[in-house]
Amino acid sequence: MNQDIVRIAPSVLSADFGNLAADIHMLNRSEADWLHIDIMDGVFVPNISFGFPVCKAIATAAEKPLDVHLMIVQPERYVEAFAKLGASVISVHYEVSTHLHRTLHQIKDLGVKAGVALNPHTSVSLLEDVIQDVDLVCMMSVNPGFGGQKFIAQTYEKVSRLKEIILKKNAKTLIEIDGGVTSANAADLVAAGADVLVAGSFVFGAENPTATIQDLRRIANDKSVMA
Ligand code: DX5
Ligand code: ZN
Repeated sequence: MNQDIVRIAPSVLSADFGNLAADIHMLNRSEADWLHIDIMDGVFVPNISFGFPVCKAIATAAEKPLDVHLMIVQPERYVEAFAKLGASVISVHYEVSTHLHRTLHQIKDLGVKAGVALNPHTSVSLLEDVIQDVDLVCMMSVNPGFGGQKFIAQTYEKVSRLKEIILKKNAKTLIEIDGGVTSANAADLVAAGADVLVAGSFVFGAENPTATIQDLRRIANDKSVMA
């Protein structure tokens, strides 16, 4: 995956489900790079989001890559179904993956990029021996389960440490930040090493979501912040 640009992935969780097609069309026309799809099972996280019929509707309307974040137990049981729906990236949580290496390769064998999501308390050092098999780390900067939560500032340091591991192992892994991303923390996250920024409530809660995506993308790709 191209590492030269920082991608913006609006989270559909914060879209208007009464008028979902309109929000997906807005994302199609916007500068969004990916669509982030949050799947919650009410077991791994204390909330249930949506399942296959809704995902299918999103996949049918979407013209951009689908970045599927599985917040579910036993994710290996469902990766094939999400691959068939057309996911480009599927992330499973480290905390529910006893055989993470096997699940990552199950995803790759389906022709999909393989991601690992980490809860805020899960150390990035746990990925050291598998990082070369990981296309994307979805680093949670809130506790998974809900949109609209406050960003956890400890994330910056975690991003820097993960970036060091990726560079040391000569891996091509992208770092995605998920939770509480706004135009106020986007530049600092990119400076720390982030490659993909997920944003739900900040985009869909804005008066002009299209302009907000454009703004975030501009801030995230402003090379002067790296100086
Ligand atoms: C949280 C989800 C996030 C969420 C982000 O469990 O994984 O993707 O939709 O929403 P905001 O940007 O509102 O924190
Ligand atoms: Zn997510």
